[in-house]
Amino acid sequence: MTPPAGSLLSAQQLRKAYGPTPALDGAEFSIHPGEVVAIMGPSGSGKSTLLHCLAGIVPPDSGTILYEGRELSAMHDTERSALRRSEFGFVFQFGQLVPDLTCVENVALPLRLNGTPRRTAERAALSWMQRLEVDGLSGKRPGEVSGGQGQRVAVARSLVTGPRVIFADEPTGALDSLNGERVMELFTEAARSTNAAVVLVTHESRVAAYSDREVVVRDGKSRDVEHDV
Ligand SMILES: Nc1ncnc2c1ncn2[C@@H]1O[C@H](COP(=O)(O)OP(=O)(O)OP(=O)(O)O)[C@@H](O)[C@H]1O
Ligand SMILES: [Mg+2]
Repeated sequence: MTPPAGSLLSAQQLRKAYGPTPALDGAEFSIHPGEVVAIMGPSGSGKSTLLHCLAGIVPPDSGTILYEGRELSAMHDTERSALRRSEFGFVFQFGQLVPDLTCVENVALPLRLNGTPRRTAERAALSWMQRLEVDGLSGKRPGEVSGGQGQRVAVARSLVTGPRVIFADEPTGALDSLNGERVMELFTEAARSTNAAVVLVTHESRVAAYSDREVVVRDGKSRDVEHDV
């Protein structure tokens, strides 16, 4: 199987089973630099499993995942972790901010883990927080901000290392529609400004509306859907 020309990240014939139940059953995926692709589908259809495989967090039972032409499964664990730290960004349903760190420390954390000195890391963190309109919350801890604010902090954190791909699993799933739409607006604008590709898992069509293209997963199989223009 060859990946579509020009793709940054692609998957061919992915299979993954947990016990007797297949979570992925021949799923295919590809994304170009700067593209925002929504993975949609009913609960239990395999969306998160697909995202975790693409991000190198969960190994598939079979199939190929290529990132910049290199097979993820052929990489050593340390190499895959380094890739996740430096070239991938993550946003999850419940921001997963570290409760004991302030918001600016949370945003700076991926840079700190890469060895960036504190002041440089926090300066970069603050500029992303400004972009996401949460710089006023820099000294607060995650427990002291609203859900929508926390998700914007999490989005800032996903962007701070300048990743090539951002993986987002239901990033607005815990928010009301107004907050969710504002987060998606700021998120996609910021990602587009850095040419990061975004793999966005959602089951809400109003969230998927911020994508360039939708892929529907059903029973572990994927299908491309063209957007109506
Ligand atoms: N760690 C796990 N152990 C066992 N089974 C799992 C595990 N993770 C997922 N599954 C199963 O694999 C299938 C796909 O799960 P997955 O989490 O990918 O679905 P999803 O589309 O993300 O669902 P949701 O919309 O509810 O988040 C489901 O049948 C689920 O029960
Ligand atoms: Mg899921």
